[in-house]
Amino acid sequence: YFAAETRCDLAGQKLLVTAGATRESVDPVRFFTNHSSGKMGYAIAEAAVKRGADVVLVSGRTNLNPPAGVEFVQIDSAEEMYQAVIARYDEMDIVVKSAAVADYRPKVVHTNKMKKKSGDLVMELERTRDILAELGARKMHQFLVGFAAETENVEENARGKMERKRADMIVANNVAEAGAGFGVDTNIVTIYTRDGEAQQLPQMSKADIADRILDAVVAARKQEA
Ligand code: CTP
Ligand code: CA
Repeated sequence: YFAAETRCDLAGQKLLVTAGATRESVDPVRFFTNHSSGKMGYAIAEAAVKRGADVVLVSGRTNLNPPAGVEFVQIDSAEEMYQAVIARYDEMDIVVKSAAVADYRPKVVHTNKMKKKSGDLVMELERTRDILAELGARKMHQFLVGFAAETENVEENARGKMERKRADMIVANNVAEAGAGFGVDTNIVTIYTRDGEAQQLPQMSKADIADRILDAVVAARKQEA
């Protein structure tokens, strides 16, 4: 047994991880986003580098410094994240989609700042592309890890996402729980695989969870081989 720091079980593997929130512009001064801090994805990127992987980190804007040794790609919108990921997909062995991608964006992006008027405003939103589902549809040799942020029916929703998006693994977290989800340094997750049992982890640091996720990826790929 080796400590995570000296384990090299991802040597030579190409791993792409997405992290953080996307930003969907309304006009030159406004955007829609969400509470994702990027901490979980950055922890995965850092852990993967330590285990010997070649890591690409595709990230929305965060307050975090990219871990040493990663190829860092910063994006804003869901569409930019999609383009950055798809362009590198063929050469990847493992893709981990921990980013909180906007599901909707404003249908019209105004070139000039919107001026307020009297009364309420109704804004039309359109769906963004589901990046993980696209990766699943185009999957060749890659091992695909998705996340599921849920506030209820965690297992059912997580397994449904794994099926629909053809992911090999889903890491689910109940974002309504204290000590889990957005912004905090710890998380409480359950790891689901296609044929394996659910692996429920206790509250842990995001760094430790990152290593447990990578342990599960290594184990699942060994089983497949
Ligand atoms: N995801 C993605 N592209 C999107 C939306 C989500 O790649 N446009 C990915 C996320 O990065 C995550 C997984 O899909 O790995 C699940 O995201 P989540 O928001 O939990 O689920 P959704 O499928 O978007 O469904 P809902 O938000 O309605 O629960
Ligand atoms: Ca979503």
